[in-house]
This record gives sequence, C-alpha cells and structure tokens, in this order.
Amino acid sequence: MSAKVICIASQKGGVGKTTTAVSLAHGLSQRGKRVLLIDLDPQGQAATDLGRNPEPGAFHLLTMGSSPQEAGFVQSWVRFTGRDGLYLLPGDRQTLSAQTVLNAQDKPISAIRQSISRFFKDGLDYMLFDTAPSVGGIQERAVWAADLVIVPTATEFLSVDGLGKMLRQLSALQEQKKWRGSLLGILPTFYDEQARESQATLENLRERFEASLLPPIHRATLLRESAALGRTIFEVDPLCRAAKEYQALTKHVLKFEGAG
Ligand SMILES: Nc1ncnc2c1ncn2[C@@H]1O[C@H](COP(=O)(O)OP(=O)(O)OP(=O)(O)O)[C@@H](O)[C@H]1O
Ligand SMILES: [Mg+2]
Repeated sequence: MSAKVICIASQKGGVGKTTTAVSLAHGLSQRGKRVLLIDLDPQGQAATDLGRNPEPGAFHLLTMGSSPQEAGFVQSWVRFTGRDGLYLLPGDRQTLSAQTVLNAQDKPISAIRQSISRFFKDGLDYMLFDTAPSVGGIQERAVWAADLVIVPTATEFLSVDGLGKMLRQLSALQEQKKWRGSLLGILPTFYDEQARESQATLENLRERFEASLLPPIHRATLLRESAALGRTIFEVDPLCRAAKEYQALTKHVLKFEGAG
C-alpha cells in the first residue's frame, strides 16, 4: 500500500475533527493528490459536510473478510465527492454495530490497517480517517493503522485536560503494540485572540507541547456555515482566513511527508 494514512483523533467531542478531516482531504486533493476520506464516526458527519449522505461504507470496511468478492463489495461503497481526486467511504450509525463485532471477535490492533491495505491497495496518495470522540475499539485501531496522527484541541479551558491522556495512548501504542506511526501535531482550534481564555489555553499548549504544536485554526463562523451547506471552506470562500489556515495545514502535511 503506497498511500499515507492520516488519522484525525481526539477523545473530546466538537473540537473540529471532522472539519479538519474534510478540509485537509479537500486541500490535499486540490494539490493534485488522490485522497480517500474514510468516516469511522457513527455520526456520519464527514458525508454531510461534503454534501453527501451517510451510508454504511465504514461498517462494511470494518466487518468484511478478505475474499476478492468482499473486497469488491467494500470498494463499491466508495463515493466520488464531485471534487477532483477526492473520494469518500461514508459512515453511518451501523458503524456502532461494527464496534460491537470488533469487540466480540476480539480483532487485533492491526485489524483496520489490514483491511485498508487489502481493499485500497493502489491508486491513492492519502487516506484520511475521521474518528468518533472516543478511545479504544475502532479509534485505537484507526490510530494504529495511521502513519500520522493529528489531534485537534479546542483552545478552551479544560480542553487541554484530555490531551495528556491522548498522547499517552500514542506512546503506549508505540511502546507496547509496535505502532510505527507518529504524531504529526496538535492542532489548536476555535482560536480567538480576543478571548483571554483562548489566549491562555494556547499559551499553556505552547508551554507543554511546543514541538508538536501546529499553527492554530481561528474560530470562524464560515466553517460552521459551509459544513451546513455541504461545502468545504475552499468552495465557500477560498480567500478567507479559515481557508488560508487549512491551506497552511495542507502544505505542512505535504512537507512533513517530503511529498510536496
Ligand atoms: N474553527 C472553527 N470555528 C467555528 N466553528 C467551527 C470550527 N471548527 C469546527 N466548527 C464547527 O463546530 C462544530 C463541531 O466541529 P466538528 O464537527 O468538526 O467537530 P468534531 O470534533 O468532529 O465533533 P464530534 O466529536 O461530534 O465528531 C461544527 O458545527 C463545525 O462546523
Ligand atoms: Mg466529527
């Protein structure tokens, strides 16, 4: 499998995981990369943010075996998003049942990595995972499947609390489960330099995680509005600050890969 796999993960809800997954996926595809966004969150929001319907593509990815027929079946759930180079394997509520199956069958930590390398062998530059706000189960296997992980963190009090736990999970996967990937960075989101809470949180993040900290994404109503319209920020206003910030993240990712 030649594609780089990037997982967007945080145990906290509403911190901008889906927004980051969708914006980065579109940003990379706009730079000529072939990208598959895989929605591993039962909320199915990656689809709606791209103007598509939630569907059980992720459920099939997580539960199918390895025969050529099954591979063909999983591939048949990949949707073209209408944007050059950007494809989506949508998720929906059935992903919850896949979680039950994973647990019941006690699938190995490598389960998702094995599935994606079986089903999506060629033709992609990047695979991105959007994940649910959780730890363990699907989330843990998605992180293990990734070459790189981005952890969005809202710049609000208490948001930093869960971060230490998340980073410890990454270290534990490296040390105990032979995970070969790494943290690409912590991405501060909902940043508002007018708000003292936001400033103080960013300062705190800088002090604690300087080396891993990515430039912040400001709070931007347009990000929420564009998601509600099923369009990406690059389609709604490619010159706005949020679009520029997500473009900068895209460039950083390309550079990090040595591929840009
Ligand atoms: N920088 C931002 N400024 C303003 N609104 C934002 C920003 N990032 C995301 N949003 C909006 O905030 C809400 C939550 O964002 P998003 O869905 O990306 O978070 P999430 O971490 O995926 O949430 P969940 O944990 O429920 O999956 C959405 O309505 C989204 O459009
Ligand atoms: Mg989400």
